[in-house]
Amino acid sequence: MKELKNLRVDYSGDLIDIKKLKNNPIKQFEIWFKNAKKENIIEPNAMILSTISKNNLLNSRTVLLKNITDKGLVFFTNYESIKANDIMHNNNVSVVFLWKKIERQVIIKGKAVKITKRDSKKYFDSRPEKSKIAAWASKQSKELHNSSDLLKRFKNFENKFKNKLIPYPDFWGGYIIHPNSIEFWQGRSSRMHDRILYEKEKNKWNINRLYP
Ligand SMILES: Cc1cc2nc3c(=O)[nH]c(=O)nc-3n(C[C@H](O)[C@H](O)[C@H](O)COP(=O)(O)O)c2cc1C
Repeated sequence: MKELKNLRVDYSGDLIDIKKLKNNPIKQFEIWFKNAKKENIIEPNAMILSTISKNNLLNSRTVLLKNITDKGLVFFTNYESIKANDIMHNNNVSVVFLWKKIERQVIIKGKAVKITKRDSKKYFDSRPEKSKIAAWASKQSKELHNSSDLLKRFKNFENKFKNKLIPYPDFWGGYIIHPNSIEFWQGRSSRMHDRILYEKEKNKWNINRLYP
């Protein structure tokens, strides 16, 4: 496509002031996340999660960040999905946040671990009713032979749980990503972008600037 080679945007951000950065990158991420939210970015918590399959192939998809704790980043999914199978074989994952409006990207690499059933249930119980039913209805990542089958399953579970508390499905829950590196990227003019990389060494975070 001819017009693609001329499709470019010049960014305008400032250099990141290393002196002002938090020692802990999760705290720094919280600051950038709050900023993205303040700028009314749609779903600033959408992140591209990459996992490694049993055959060492990569799989990437979007998931939503649902909690940030001192220990890491939490997302929820079906424990029988492709991503869950990948994590079972190899729990090294990476997530990428792209906040185009503020010319920022954050890349987090780490190990994904299932959160407790209690915490998964707590979040499940807080979800809207239809989302809970959808979790029951979806055999996530399995082949759906006929799209009407999904609707049938949704209606069946809707009837089954009518006027009842929707139970927590054991096959669904959260993962926490314990980071071992976090990179903050700020777009700048003339492709002179700024990159700050935090890397965990034992229990200490090293902070370095990278060439763009
Ligand atoms: C904006 C957006 C948010 C999404 N959030 C989630 C999520 O939080 N959890 C989830 O399991 N899938 C989510 N999905 C769907 C996933 O991208 C993916 O299709 C699904 O989880 C199956 O992935 P898998 O087959 O690789 O396991 C989201 C998709 C989009 C586009």
